[in-house]
Amino acid sequence: MTNEKIFATPRKVDDVADCYFYHTMELPRHGVIEGRDWDLRGRVDEYLGHVDFAGQRVLEIGPASGFLTFEMEKRGADVSSVEVTDEHGWDFVPYPDARLKEIFGPRGIVMQQLKNSYWFSHAAFRSKAKVYYGDAYNLPATLGQFDIAVMGAVLLHCRDALRIVEQCAKRAKTLIIVDKFHPDLEGAPVCRLVPTAENLIWHTWWHFSTQFFTQFSAVMGFATSKPTTHEQYHRGRAHTLFTLVARRE
Ligand SMILES: C[S@@+](CC[C@H](N)C(=O)[O-])C[C@H]1O[C@@H](n2cnc3c(N)ncnc32)[C@H](O)[C@@H]1O
Repeated sequence: MTNEKIFATPRKVDDVADCYFYHTMELPRHGVIEGRDWDLRGRVDEYLGHVDFAGQRVLEIGPASGFLTFEMEKRGADVSSVEVTDEHGWDFVPYPDARLKEIFGPRGIVMQQLKNSYWFSHAAFRSKAKVYYGDAYNLPATLGQFDIAVMGAVLLHCRDALRIVEQCAKRAKTLIIVDKFHPDLEGAPVCRLVPTAENLIWHTWWHFSTQFFTQFSAVMGFATSKPTTHEQYHRGRAHTLFTLVARRE
């Protein structure tokens, strides 16, 4: 049974200057706000695998500024999102402390501003979407059951990506997984470790093949449709992503 008390009280954010917009957003009364990272406008249905959201209860892992949250809501979904707590932040790659020190301070501020951008947009849309700030590796039963779980561009950032997929599979009948497409990995159920001692990539753990998730979905008793690829824009540059939809058999 869902316990509404686990969801966050909406934050009141009046000033757009207090926000970090990860997504480009088009907000009622505010117009277009350019995102710092991704502009998914016009390609949402490809991103979300053309799944029908009307009347569906959706679990979203990692909403960032909430572009997908509010798009799913526009399509008739009742969305609950899971976002990191202020204490946990991301699964930072464990580089030596001296190397991470410069990253942690500014990162904390960006995360606050990222959460602010969600609540600023939430108010502009008069959204009913909810946020649970907590641990995606141990989702509480009080979140309830869902029709669909969405993991959009989040698993690459998580040390134990399969644990999150498993948590979602326990709570939802349909899984939507979106991640970067790496043609050189295709054909085998593999993932590749991204950080090296030299590249200092502290935020991304993995490159995945699509088979990595189709095989694991099958292990859990989910049938996957053929993964689709699509172009999405990050800071003006096109990137190829894949979307995979898995349904419990
Ligand atoms: C790269 S953004 C993707 C945003 C959106 N889902 C999309 O597809 O455009 C990753 C989001 O996941 C969140 N995130 C990262 N690690 C997480 C974790 N372990 N649990 C929950 N959310 C996480 C980040 O804070 C951020 O909101």
